[in-house]
Amino acid sequence: MRFRSTVATVFTALFLCTACHLRAQATQYPDQPPLLLGAAWYPEQWPESQWDPDLARMEAAHIDVVRVGEFAWSTMEPSEGDYQFGWLDRAIALAAKHHICVVLGTPTAAPPAWLTTKYPETLRVDEDGRRAEHGNRQQFSFSDPKYRQFAREIAEQMAIHFGHNPDVVGWQLDNEYAEPDFGLSAQQQFHAWLQKKYGTIANLNQKWATAYWSQTYDNFEEIPVRQDHENPALLLDWKRFVSDTWKSYSSNQISAIRPHADPRQFITTNTMGWFDGFDEYTVHSVLDIAAWDDYISADHYNYIDNGARHDLTRGFKMKNFWVMETEPAFVNWRPTNTPLLKGQVRDMAWQAVGHGAETVEYWQWRSAPNGQEEYHGVLVGADGTPVPVYDEVRQTGEEFAKAGPAIAGTSPHSEVALVNDYDSRWAIDFQRHSAAFDPVLEMLAFYRPLRIQSQAVDVISIHTPLDKYKVVELPALNVISQPIADRLMEYVHNGGHLVLGPRSAMKNEFNGLEPERQPGPLADFLGGRVDQFYALDYDVPLSGDFGSGTASIWAEQLSVHSPDTKVLMTYGKSNGWLDDQPAVISRHVGKGTITYVGAWLDPKLMDSLTKQVLQEAGVEPILPSVPAGVEVCRRTGHDKSILILINHNTDEQHIQLPSPMRDLIGSQGSGGSTAVGSIDLPAYGVAVLEAQP
Ligand code: GAL
Repeated sequence: MRFRSTVATVFTALFLCTACHLRAQATQYPDQPPLLLGAAWYPEQWPESQWDPDLARMEAAHIDVVRVGEFAWSTMEPSEGDYQFGWLDRAIALAAKHHICVVLGTPTAAPPAWLTTKYPETLRVDEDGRRAEHGNRQQFSFSDPKYRQFAREIAEQMAIHFGHNPDVVGWQLDNEYAEPDFGLSAQQQFHAWLQKKYGTIANLNQKWATAYWSQTYDNFEEIPVRQDHENPALLLDWKRFVSDTWKSYSSNQISAIRPHADPRQFITTNTMGWFDGFDEYTVHSVLDIAAWDDYISADHYNYIDNGARHDLTRGFKMKNFWVMETEPAFVNWRPTNTPLLKGQVRDMAWQAVGHGAETVEYWQWRSAPNGQEEYHGVLVGADGTPVPVYDEVRQTGEEFAKAGPAIAGTSPHSEVALVNDYDSRWAIDFQRHSAAFDPVLEMLAFYRPLRIQSQAVDVISIHTPLDKYKVVELPALNVISQPIADRLMEYVHNGGHLVLGPRSAMKNEFNGLEPERQPGPLADFLGGRVDQFYALDYDVPLSGDFGSGTASIWAEQLSVHSPDTKVLMTYGKSNGWLDDQPAVISRHVGKGTITYVGAWLDPKLMDSLTKQVLQEAGVEPILPSVPAGVEVCRRTGHDKSILILINHNTDEQHIQLPSPMRDLIGSQGSGGSTAVGSIDLPAYGVAVLEAQP
């Protein structure tokens, strides 16, 4: 009884407070369903006689959107200046007949042979000076002015043609930006970029500390263009330059499309989760919405890790996003392309929605008749008839249609945030010191218990306002500047709970060492510091407030300099240096706390650390006491509160609800109209529930 009333109070409170931070839906088209299911469709690969049967099968699977065109340059412009959009007009019109809208891809990830043959400077040069060839894709130079001119031209012609087409809902620029260029244009632009940033070569020499190994430069042209084995300052600036170049690559096309496109057509590009080739926040500053390609990152689906990537993508624009591609059971590019288990394709689709997706699109609709991806998972085979996963996708589509109206206008909200900082991730990666110290794995070590215990995490940039969060964790904010340190201290003063992970605040913005030991500009505020760091290839015991356990990979020997800074965990006997030394310290300052975690803690210790931090900050789970492996996602907005429960386990689970809720997809056999007080979910089962006002 007591349990039920506490839960009900928490639930009601959370339900009511949602109006205070409403976050708009990313895209809204009155004439389209609010939750879209889609697929990548390549009409250019098929005779037109096949289009109608294909689209009819899509409609039968409740597919609402197709992405087309992103590799079709040679069909859209078969020779220089000869634009052929008639086939695309017909494909879009036919799709519309089947109630399917379109996202148009600009085809710049795959330039045609006539272009790269006539203008070889448009081909990318790798770090060792080798020029790419035609025959694969992504062979273009992102910085070459000639390539930019062609990219702009095709984007503009497409926008003039399709910018007012009511069936085109948005634009995808290019496809999965990835490879930078190291050729002449990139070199010249990097040098100009450095000159703009530093003004004089003397200033650059001073900031980069180039007296080291006689690296002193006489002029900007002498500076090499490399992404490895260079001065860490150069490496960090190169990544920032690459980020700015992808941003201007995007702007080049956006400024060609926008003047000719209806404002309701969004412009995005499809990203790749934790990929760190550039700073996503920089590139997203010129995009309307975020979108990503959700391919599971290991051989088997790990729902927590996958959820983290959804949260990361949502954080690129701090609003709902699109899953522009996902796998229909398997891919073709892993060493062994094992399939998702039956039920997991639907499970993943609903997980995406739970984390803020407005659309889930499968890659791809139909096996291509030839090409590098003949083995990839699809919804229909090259013969045009459904493969087994089609039915699971159709069921998902039916459910999207049922639940969509209730979900419209809602999005996830969180009281806790994890900071993803590209400068810091790069800086650690350039000099890992401990090979196993993968900054993404470290992020996930913090994310997992946070997500399980709080059931809602925002993954944010360090520049996002922090005041709405009760807890902010920075797993490894290796690079810090004084303005950022000032913001973090202000956050704590005002009542925030800040948790810093190992390697935090070691470097300045030029990737040089801070003049004070870690955490540099935060050391006095913390009342403690890192006396020394150690890479580990053995476990170190430690014990204290979070119980006993081990540290691995990394351990810092901390010391305390203020009487009110508490030691929460202490190392046991190990390498002599760490013996009996502080491992985790914490201090109350103003209305909040700052905690420094100096070691890579085992999962059990991370669990109890998280529990303590959330308790102190007053963060409650959305739905307490759910069985392990049952994921709880909540979307709120417009006075609505939707719960999405997913059983990722291989056996059935029972979930008691705090108060009866409307079962939107009829997962309990209720047909979607009645309220249910508890839920039984089979393996990979999903329930979508709406709180009763
Ligand atoms: C994506 C890419 C698609 C397709 C897919 C296969 O990375 O954007 O075009 O190649 O992988 O998994």
